[in-house]
Amino acid sequence: MGLEKQGAKPKGLTGTIIGKMMNRLHTGRYVKYFLKNIPSENSSILDIGCGGGKFLHFLNSLNNGYKLYGLDHSEKMIALAGKVNQREIEKGLVEIKQGSVMELPFANNSLDMVTAFETVQFWPDSLKSFIEVKRVVKPGGKFIIFNYYPKEGTKWWNFAKIKDDKQYKKLLEESGFSSTHCNLQNEKGWIIIESVK
Ligand SMILES: C[S@@+](CC[C@H](N)C(=O)[O-])C[C@H]1O[C@@H](n2cnc3c(N)ncnc32)[C@H](O)[C@@H]1O
Repeated sequence: MGLEKQGAKPKGLTGTIIGKMMNRLHTGRYVKYFLKNIPSENSSILDIGCGGGKFLHFLNSLNNGYKLYGLDHSEKMIALAGKVNQREIEKGLVEIKQGSVMELPFANNSLDMVTAFETVQFWPDSLKSFIEVKRVVKPGGKFIIFNYYPKEGTKWWNFAKIKDDKQYKKLLEESGFSSTHCNLQNEKGWIIIESVK
């Protein structure tokens, strides 16, 4: 199974190894951002496509009274995220759910923040999935996306469903978010999108 397929839904032993690698390699970037933009105390936060669950572990370590949820459609990632957050799960601080972004197991207007790291390119329908995210975010709540920013002519360009910041903005506006700010870290090949419902 190729890397793209493993990224989309990690499977088998290779999937678990990739999940562990993502935990090591991806998390530093998000940590940097969130240490500068710490979510309010007692926020409820859902990480969609949570992979190996390291980001939830980091958020919990801030000791800010968060109620944290991770969702992923890969059985292997649910198992790994469960292991990584075992103590927090036992204390009722973190819940990991298996499911799809297309049908989030959360009530309308129930979450302060939803995050999505390196995952939106795998979602089957960008507009429908953003509408589903908007449904579960509270009015005034945030949706934060981190993703590789594809360069035209590269493999990533062909692979990425959303090609640039204008497309992100358009889709998020169409799905009902009231404001969207794109922070282009082009030289590093990353984009950070902050939307408010
Ligand atoms: C490249 S990994 C990133 C994992 C983690 N966010 C990180 O940054 O380390 C993408 C993750 O999104 C999950 N994913 C992809 N499509 C999904 C969908 N439709 N619903 C839920 N999870 C999905 C995959 O199973 C995978 O764990």
